[in-house]
Order: sequence, then structure tokens, then C-alpha cells
Amino acid sequence: MLDKNRLDQSIWPFVPAKRVMSIQRAKGNYLYTKSGKKILDAAGGCIVSNIGYGVEEVAEAVSQAIKNCTFVMPPWLTEEREVLINELREHWLPPHLSRIHLASGGSEANETAIKMAIQYHAGMGHQERTVILTRDISYHGTTISMAAISGHPDRKRGLEGILDVYPNILTPYPLRCPLGAFHENATEYYLKDLEDRINEIGPNKIAALIAEPLNGSSGGAITPPQDYWQGAQKILKKHGILLIMDEVMTGFGRTGYKFGSELYGIKPDILVAGKGLAGGYAAIAGVFGTEEIAEGISRGGFNVMFHTFAALPQSCAAATCVLQILRRDELVLRSKSIGAKLKKSLTEKFSQHPLVAEIRGEGMLIGVEIVSDRGTLEPFPKEARITEKVIGYGLKEGVFFYPGGTGDIRDIVCLGPAFTLKENEIDEIVNALSVSLDRVLEAQSD
Ligand SMILES: Cc1ncc(COP(=O)(O)O)c(C=O)c1O
Repeated sequence: MLDKNRLDQSIWPFVPAKRVMSIQRAKGNYLYTKSGKKILDAAGGCIVSNIGYGVEEVAEAVSQAIKNCTFVMPPWLTEEREVLINELREHWLPPHLSRIHLASGGSEANETAIKMAIQYHAGMGHQERTVILTRDISYHGTTISMAAISGHPDRKRGLEGILDVYPNILTPYPLRCPLGAFHENATEYYLKDLEDRINEIGPNKIAALIAEPLNGSSGGAITPPQDYWQGAQKILKKHGILLIMDEVMTGFGRTGYKFGSELYGIKPDILVAGKGLAGGYAAIAGVFGTEEIAEGISRGGFNVMFHTFAALPQSCAAATCVLQILRRDELVLRSKSIGAKLKKSLTEKFSQHPLVAEIRGEGMLIGVEIVSDRGTLEPFPKEARITEKVIGYGLKEGVFFYPGGTGDIRDIVCLGPAFTLKENEIDEIVNALSVSLDRVLEAQSD
């Protein structure tokens, strides 16, 4: 018999986990556990929180929206939806992305973006363009097709039998570039890989490339050479292949720019964003496309189907309120400035650390790659579960880091705190990581 008053690891989550944190409440940048511990959230949940937790104004806006109009079918307009669309168009989206579709999460939104790309080509008379190119290190979601498209072996385990295999290109990874670490010809090397892959498949068969501008947790903020994306976009354009930028993690200021594609000076045909859109206050994501994409789809007489809970009035109200707070408090700029300080402090402390191969990222998306040998970049064996240990030690020190990496690319500690992070909280983060890495080092030399 289950004790009804005891929600323990045998009943939550679905598959029992080693450690289940029980969080009683969250405020600002901190989580408070049921057992009375205060934890600085250096991960922003799972790189979601941007304005911090427990902001009254957002709670108020959500409550108002529920009272005003709880639900209408997603294609209809409500005041809450209209205000959000105007907020997005006037203040956030690049002008060429004027078409908006709303979804309830990142996986759903990426699926929709891919459907749109295929429907666009079909509507323009190119039914043969059905191939979606993806990248070897990537994460685009957890539905069956997004798990298949993602270059994230750990999240495909046990499903391999039903997952289609998508053609992929190399994710530019300057630290581990086959020509040598941070090689001056890295851009050319990775662009040649893109061009070769396109030619191998046949350019006229490819509908789109889906990619994150810089990696989320799959590769722990792997950052491409600055000129990579402009070169890649030229190649894609030349072959009539659409660029879908998955900015579910990087969107809405995470990188210190409104979008990661702005950071690299490129114009995606379809941009997908999620997490930061409502900063954790609601389940909402967006697919943003050009007029041309919408025109192609409607020329084919196709429809873009909705998900029932996409764009609930209360989700729209939460998103609008979060976006307005980001603007009012200039938090995108702050993501850039406080992110630079956080990265500088991490670099000062760890750039010579025997276990640290690289500290990378932009704004408030930072990855620290851990290796067993800095010289050879040899990772720890998978069974050593180093990331898990570092996260565990961090929690003991009162700071939560997010686990990153997958498959052969492993042991990356991700940081993605809210943009409201305070300067003194940077010290807390650096100290906790220092203690955690030293524990790993001690265990290694035992
Ligand atoms: C880049 C990226 N795309 C897609 C997703 C999937 O989003 P969701 O978990 O909301 O379905 C994530 C989630 O972490 C992500 O980081």
C-alpha cells in the first residue's frame, strides 16, 4: 500500500530516479527545497527562467486572462493573443519574420516548422523537396520525429527501432575541429562539409536545414566560428534550401541579443523559439516565418494545424508580461553584460584548471567542458558519470548547474541563469563549481 501522504521516489517520476529534488517554492534566482535548503539556480530551471521566479505582475496578468476568457480555439483571436502578436512584431521579431504561429512547447513548434518547410516547397510545386538536414550534435525535442532528428544519442535510447535516420552535417566545434583546436580554417572545413553533404544527397531533394545557432545543452553552448553562419546561409540560399533556426533555448535574449541569429547576422526563413518567450510562466512557443513561406503554403491550399493548448489566452498574457518586463528592465542588455562578467569570472578561475578544456558561450548561455586530460582533450569514461557528480556536488554547495553533452561529447556543465543574476551571485556560482571540480580531481588522484 502506498502511503498517500508520502510522495516519494517510488511513485514520482514515472521511472524512479536516484535523486528527486522536492521544491517548495521559488523566488528571484533561488529555489527553496522542502527540507529547507536554499539553492541558487544557475541553470534557470532548464535554461528557461529569464526574469527570475515569482514575479507578481506576471501572476496578476495570468489571473486576469483566465477570468477574462479562459479558452477559445487557437486560430481565433482574443485580446490576449492580439496583444502578444503586436508585442512580438513591434519589439522582438526581425522585420522579415512577420508570420506567427503559436505552439505549446519547443518540440511541437519544431515539428510545425518542419511541416511548414515541406508544405511550402509542395505549395511552390517542389514536392520532391522532402529531406530535412540536421546536425550531428543537436537537440530539437522529444516527440518521435524530433528525437529522430536530434543528434542526441542519450535521448534516443530504447527508441532506436522506430526512429528514422536523418542525414546530418557536422556541428562546427572549434575546440575539437579535426584540423586542430581553434584552427584558422575551421569555417571553411565545416562549410565544405555542408556543401559536400548537400551534393551527396542532391540539392533539389532537400527542403531545409534545422539547426541551433549555438548549441543548447546537447553540446553545452558549442559556439561556431563567428563567420560560419553567414557562409552556411549563402550555400543554403544558392541551393533553394530553407534555414530553420531552432532558437528554443537561445531566443528572447539568452545570448545577449534578441535572437542568436541576430548575433551571427543571418536571416532564417523560419525561426522557432520557446523557453524564454514566457520565461517559465507558461507553456508557449512560437514559429515565426516569412511572408513567402506563408504564401507558398496557402498557394498549395494547405493548412497549418493547431495544438489545442497552443496560445491559451493565459499563456499569451504571461508571455506578453514577461517580454514587457525584459524590455522595461533592459534585461537583454543585462544578459550580455552580466553574462560577460560570469564568463570572465569562470575563465579567470578555471581556464588553467587541469580538468577544464573550454569555457564557452554567449550572454547567459555558457558551457564548461570537462576532460580527464587537457592536453589530449580525452574525456572521462562514460561510466565515471562526471557531469552527474559535478551537478551533485554543486547542489551540496547550494548551486544548481544543468547537465550537458551527449554520447561521445560528454561532461559539459551548462550555466543558464536568469538575466536578473546579481554580481554577488556570480561568486556563489564560481565557488560552488570550484569545490565540485576539486572533488572530481581529488577522486581522480585517489
Ligand atoms: C534547442 C531546443 N530545441 C527544442 C527543445 C524542446 O523543447 P520542449 O522541451 O519545450 O519540447 C529544447 C529543449 O530543451 C531545446 O533546447
